[in-house]
This record gives sequence, C-alpha cells and structure tokens, in this order.
Amino acid sequence: MSLEALTRLLGSAGDDAMVVAICYDKYRTNYPREYVAAHHPVLVLRIDGQARKHWPRSENGGSLGPYLISHPAFKPAFKVLSHEDEPQIPYGVTRIELRRQSVVFGAIKPAGSWPAGSPVEQGYAIARQDCFRCHNMGAQGGTMAARTWVQLGADAEKNPARFRQTIRNPASVTPGAKMPGQPGYDDATLDALTAYFRTFAATGTGEGGTR
Ligand code: HEC
Repeated sequence: MSLEALTRLLGSAGDDAMVVAICYDKYRTNYPREYVAAHHPVLVLRIDGQARKHWPRSENGGSLGPYLISHPAFKPAFKVLSHEDEPQIPYGVTRIELRRQSVVFGAIKPAGSWPAGSPVEQGYAIARQDCFRCHNMGAQGGTMAARTWVQLGADAEKNPARFRQTIRNPASVTPGAKMPGQPGYDDATLDALTAYFRTFAATGTGEGGTR
C-alpha cells in the first residue's frame, strides 16, 4: 500500500499531514511531502509474495516486521553539501502516525532568520533527514540515541572537534557506538551541522544571544 493512499485514508491534517513511522528500537522516520512525492514509499505487507512470518531477518538479526516501509525504486532527489537524499527504509515499525509536518520540523527549526543557503539552513536540511531519526526534540524525532537536540547543541558548542569526529566516525569517540558514521561528509558539511546545532546551545540557559 502506498503512503500517499494511507495519508488520504487517515487524512485529517490536510496538506500539512505527514506520515511518521515509529520503530520498536526507538528509531523513527518522518516522510515529508516532498519525499513522498519524489519516491512513492510503500508499506510492505508481503516480501516476494511471502507473509510476515516468512520474512528474512534485519541486518542486526532482529525482526523486519511488524511493518516495513520501502520503495519500488529510489533515485536521490536532492543534495545538500555532501548529504545526498537517502532512502528511508525503517523496519520493525510498530506505529504509523499522521502528524503535522509544520509541527514536527518546526520543533527543530533554528531560532532567528537565516538566509536560504546559509550553513545553518543547510545543516537544518541535513539534520532533518539524518540525525532526527535517532535524536529527539521533545515529542518529535527518534529516541534511540537517548541524547536530545539540546544536548547535541551543547556538544557542538562545547567540544566541536569531538562533535565532528562523532559524525564521521562514532566508534572512534565511543567504543562500540551504535550510531552509524557518515565518513563521506566533507568539512563544509560538518561546518553546517555544527553551525546549525550551535543555535540550540543557548536554549534553556536564559542568556541566548550573548555570543
Ligand atoms: C541511527 C541512529 C542515529 C543517527 C541517525 C544519528 N545518531 Fe547520534 N547517536 C546515536 C546513538 C545510539 C548515540 C549514543 C552513542 C552510541 O551508541 O553511538 C549517539 C550519540 C551522539 C553524540 C554524542 C557522542 C559523544 O559521546 O560525544 C553526538 C554528538 C551525536 N550522536 C550527533 C549526531 C548527529 C549530529 C547526527 C546527524 C548528523 C546523528 N548523531 C545521527 C544514534 C544516531
């Protein structure tokens, strides 16, 4: 079944409706409108004609079910610095919710106004598809990492070298890290992510804007 059809079926949030897939391991995928229009993701009910109980295991040995979302084909639809549009194929999906896209992405919108194409805006676009699957801001985003957006903001602010190294090669910072690395992100991409996350560093200190 296509996510487009599913959204229409459940749809009450109108144009702002977005499918959010929540997984048993606290990973989470948001499917923004542009992504759905470009890639036509589908809710997988059978694999090679086989019902769930015959499905193969996931890459880490767990179950692929109860639900899996995939695509008939995938051709990257955007590129921001070194980050190319990545296929979002969550497995172990236990809940599918319809949320408002403006609310979900609004939660991690950088405060202040940043020109389109600025490092902060570029970092925002990358983090929305990448980091937000495992790192949360309040009720939005995945909680697999158990490290919030505000904590990442503090990490980027206090120890940018460690922050950058974590993104490229997490196991070199935390032995046995579960976070997948992005060894292909170049310096400009890490600059953009650092600039973006730093805008969250002042949150809660009561002294925003003093730098
Ligand atoms: C697939 C899940 C996943 C994604 C995607 C992910 N992380 Fe993580 N992250 C984790 C987990 C899990 C941890 C806790 C340590 C570990 O096991 O790797 C973590 C820890 C961290 C830490 C703390 C490391 C330390 O000890 O100093 C930082 C900083 C971080 N992530 C930044 C990011 C940024 C920035 C992105 C996006 C570019 C991102 N993460 C994407 C799962 C993820």
